[in-house]
Amino acid sequence: MRHKDLGNTCVLGLQWGDEGKGKVVDLLVEHFDVVARYAGGANAGHTVVIDSDRFALHQVPSGVLREGVMNIIASGAVIDPAALLGEIESLRQRGVRLDGDNLRISDRAHLVFPWHRREDVIAEGAARAGDKIGTTARGIGPCYADKAGRRWGIRVCELCRPAGLRERILATCAYKNALFRAVYECRETFDANAITAEYLAFGEQLRPFMCDATAVLNGLIRQGKRVLFEGAQGALLDVDHGTYPFVTSSSTTNFAAGAGVPASAANSILGVAKAYTTRVGRGPFPTEQAGEVGDIIRERGGEYGTTTGRPRRCGWFDAVATAYAARVCGPTHLAIMHLDTLSGMRELRVCVGYRIGKKIVNDFPADVYSLEEAEPVYETLPGWSGEIGDCREFSKLPDEVRRYVEFISARLETPVRIISVGPARDQTIILEDN
Ligand code: IMP
Repeated sequence: MRHKDLGNTCVLGLQWGDEGKGKVVDLLVEHFDVVARYAGGANAGHTVVIDSDRFALHQVPSGVLREGVMNIIASGAVIDPAALLGEIESLRQRGVRLDGDNLRISDRAHLVFPWHRREDVIAEGAARAGDKIGTTARGIGPCYADKAGRRWGIRVCELCRPAGLRERILATCAYKNALFRAVYECRETFDANAITAEYLAFGEQLRPFMCDATAVLNGLIRQGKRVLFEGAQGALLDVDHGTYPFVTSSSTTNFAAGAGVPASAANSILGVAKAYTTRVGRGPFPTEQAGEVGDIIRERGGEYGTTTGRPRRCGWFDAVATAYAARVCGPTHLAIMHLDTLSGMRELRVCVGYRIGKKIVNDFPADVYSLEEAEPVYETLPGWSGEIGDCREFSKLPDEVRRYVEFISARLETPVRIISVGPARDQTIILEDN
């Protein structure tokens, strides 16, 4: 089956983020009319390389780099207006056209405020070593907490009502100032007038982009336009299904809830996974390789955070964790990324079970204590020596590469559709029949 026959597609990560979703979306986007981001915010970092130009996208959907594509930041995302406007400006400076005709933001999305960013940083600083999440410090958790708590969440639509916004910011500032003083002994206070003026100005600049995203998206779907739902982070960072509490605060797997469309809106789900595993921030990671193997993967794969620059933790492919993620997300196809990074390794390991205490388990446990304790049970596969970055056909890949890909596909019980053998757009193998 060809891309153009796949219908509306959701692209989501099956690991702890950074799987290479940005490249996959950029590759597929020529077959789509719309790209919709449905969760997360400025914590995300999607890297797209075009003609050796590297773009790091955070809040803006990856479709902006293609002419004629409508990009929507939907209601399930949280919007940091200062960061979003900065991102828009820097993309414009690099020649990317961005206006209300190709970028829309949901008026139902929640806004990130300075108190969210401060709480993210202070709470992480104050937490005991074992309790630190290792967040991106972008205020994501506190913003989603205020959204769920309902009393202090402020949405994009409120930027257009100056009197109401002023009142809400005044009340919120009073509460947050008292909270920060009492809980964190923080003397610095938020100035409600200054923040109101700043956010009203943001509102003016964002007004051309604001829309009722569910109306726009569902309307486009009804017109037969093809939509690509762009996931952020990964299934193992999902607030409901990930390695809680070492997760992000959004539902990374549920495109329908975040985008405001029925679940039947996507005909196919493309699960993206790297040929190994990485994780930024804290939390359990059974197949982590702290020594030489991890260093080789990090250096060869350029495994440093797009948003924070932090070195990523690296390790072997975890088929237990990824199969669990696949069960949650139901991918119809897989994209296996960064295979070239593994070239030159004599042998490769894939985790197929965990030894926890005296038991071997093949399912992904809920509690992080079991995961911290889990000793991976590996299958060892032969590596390959030559570079594969120039290969464009599956049948021309070394036997060992094909065997590795087929092994992962079998463990996840899902056909592979895309294989990435390098960062550039054309360093990709498409298996159209799958
Ligand atoms: P937060 O989303 O900033 O609250 O961070 C919570 C956890 O999710 C931390 O471990 C972050 O490193 C991780 N995280 C958030 N966004 C991304 C991403 O885009 N890629 C990889 N990890 C992420």
